Amino acid sequence: VIITTKIADVRAHRQRERDMSWGFVPTMGYLHAGHLSLVEKARADNERTAVSIYVNPTQFGPQEDFGAYPRAPEQDLAMLEKAGVHLVFTPGDSTIYPPGFQTTISLRQVSRPLEGASRPGHFDGVATVVAKLFNIVQPDRAYFGQKDAQQVVVLRRMVTDLNFPLDVVVCPTVRESDGLALSSRNAYLSAKERQASTVLYRALKAAEDAFYAGERQADSLRALMSGVVGAESLARLDYVSVAHPDTLVELEVVAEKALLSLAVFFGRTRLIDNVLIDVRNRSR
Ligand code: PAF
Repeated sequence: VIITTKIADVRAHRQRERDMSWGFVPTMGYLHAGHLSLVEKARADNERTAVSIYVNPTQFGPQEDFGAYPRAPEQDLAMLEKAGVHLVFTPGDSTIYPPGFQTTISLRQVSRPLEGASRPGHFDGVATVVAKLFNIVQPDRAYFGQKDAQQVVVLRRMVTDLNFPLDVVVCPTVRESDGLALSSRNAYLSAKERQASTVLYRALKAAEDAFYAGERQADSLRALMSGVVGAESLARLDYVSVAHPDTLVELEVVAEKALLSLAVFFGRTRLIDNVLIDVRNRSR
């Protein structure tokens, strides 16, 4: 595996192996089985796989956890080497944001609701850094987890709008056996909060089950999710949503499909999760 902090090294390597297909998994490190599932899919689809590890300061709000965000660079590199990755890019801040940097990629609609409303500026940070990483790595395919559903919507839109010549590939959320979606932020949870944290998946499941049992009123689905979260004393609801999966506009009635999503605080730790529902999956 080649490990480098330098853009020139990434470009040189990519150029040398330009006839190979390249898959790319951008990450903020502290890797878990969710990230490894993206790497595995990238390896299966492409001749070469690149991973970036960069905790991007511009996607964190001033009161958020940038400083505390968990980091384990040596463990990450060992995992990636074992996973058969070809190139790991670990840039520093001055490489990504050199003095004088002043360009931002900002999406008007899809970045506004949900995470965008709770975390102003978050998706400007994500879109800008991912556009830069795409320009540096120049992958044929880029891999993201469904767990960050809005991030996927935003980045797909950006790839289309700015004509990036690559495919965005979305992989299913990886969960603990009790339903908790894997996230680097799960490391913040106390033992009690960890037990309570299954409430996100329980809320989604309750709404999903109601949907497949025939409930189509979005407000009823929202109320179901809020009720489940409300019954958990350590949980504080940030938002629940029943939205169109592509536009993220809140629905009144789920005619065909919807993205059920929510964000919940446990103390200062904020977790998100989602599931897609679709009338065509009625048989499940
Ligand atoms: O999903 C993440 O880990 C980050 O948002 C990403 C895509 C690596 C951009 O910093």
